[in-house]
Amino acid sequence: MDKVQDTIDILKMYNQEHIIKLLENLDDQKKQALVEQISKIDFHQLKELYDNTKKEIEIKENKIEPLPYLDKKKLSEKQKEEFQRLGEAILEKGEYAVVTMAGGQGTRLGHSGPKGTFKLDVYGKGKYLFEILAENLKEANQKYGKVIPWYIMTSKENNDETINFMEKHNYFGYDKDSLRFFAQSELPLVDANGKLLVGKDMKIREASDGNGGTYSSLRASGCLAEMKEKGIKWVFIGGVDNALLKMADTILLGMAIDKKVQIASKSIVKANPHERVGVFAKMNGHPKVIEYSEMPEKMAEEVDNDGELKYGEAHIMCNLYTIEAIEKISKETLIYHSAFKKNSYIDENGREVIPTEPNSFKFESFIFDAFELFDDIAILRGKREDDFAPVKNKEGVDSPKTAKELYEKFWNK
Ligand code: UD1
Repeated sequence: MDKVQDTIDILKMYNQEHIIKLLENLDDQKKQALVEQISKIDFHQLKELYDNTKKEIEIKENKIEPLPYLDKKKLSEKQKEEFQRLGEAILEKGEYAVVTMAGGQGTRLGHSGPKGTFKLDVYGKGKYLFEILAENLKEANQKYGKVIPWYIMTSKENNDETINFMEKHNYFGYDKDSLRFFAQSELPLVDANGKLLVGKDMKIREASDGNGGTYSSLRASGCLAEMKEKGIKWVFIGGVDNALLKMADTILLGMAIDKKVQIASKSIVKANPHERVGVFAKMNGHPKVIEYSEMPEKMAEEVDNDGELKYGEAHIMCNLYTIEAIEKISKETLIYHSAFKKNSYIDENGREVIPTEPNSFKFESFIFDAFELFDDIAILRGKREDDFAPVKNKEGVDSPKTAKELYEKFWNK
């Protein structure tokens, strides 16, 4: 029973005494499971994350400047051909892999399953988001004569459901041996006083730790090692919820090779100052994305001499890395951002509480915070109508309705 005593000591040390009472009332099996889970929690890190929620986010505007980009539609034919030639060579040699981040909860969309299992009502029959992604990759495979290894990142919560869904749909015709799933890591939720939440299953409530976890999870799962074994030189990482995402854009790839950068990304022009997208900028000389949730209003509305938004290059989750860049980032700890959300929990008397107001912090790292680790990034400005049909909200902007319209318009062209 030493382990139980150790757990109690740790809980005391980190002001988590409320768990002790719950622990004492559990049967042996549940007690053991909870003790096991608690032994894996990094309480020091968690305390630091909670303490940080009390600090203001500081964006020192004087050190921020816009980031240069190349506009795809303004490239000369010669330049375009050169980029394409460079990019195609990588695909033809089978040196390209794709990662889809599908660990998000999709709360805003109100779809109960994993987001990729959402069916977009296109062309009568409809297509699942995973199906749309598979089609995009299969097209590239056919064009370049090699099957792109496809890695799908799930969360612990949706991993089984995702795998079962893909299996049931025969992986939408994707070569099963070139498809691999890996789950991202989690972090505990804490309430406004930094206390851990316990769920109905008598386990500490944990949630995915944000899409910045992609890099370390690629390493921990062995996917990164597998990529290296396969001779992969470039890795694309994209989201699951953009029906027009181009995962094998040879112009973007060729541009990155030509510019000798380790990371590249496609942008589009931000629709309006308050669109819920991150924007590219340079902070203290390093590339950065300033997320919509953290962008000061004044800065979002700032315009340049041509009357265009000064910070108007939107990040659309269309990111490209050399394998060395992934290797480097996967060894770093990215910063965590916190969001105050509604999460149910069991109170000290064992009763479930379903909050009506936000009650707890969720800690997430963001995929693009890794950009700061590099001196440079190559940005290619694409076009909204060709590159971005996000499925984010149930209704209104960035909803299934707008994504369907954009998707059908693109394919009717
Ligand atoms: C995201 C970007 C934002 C960008 C916008 C474009 C982040 C933090 N923000 O915002 O800069 O302008 O997309 O559409 O990336 N995901 C995981 N695990 C997690 C959390 C998310 O895999 O723990 C995945 C989701 O499944 C999804 C993607 O990351 O594929 C985007 O996540 P989401 O939280 O929906 O980001 P947005 O707020 O839309």
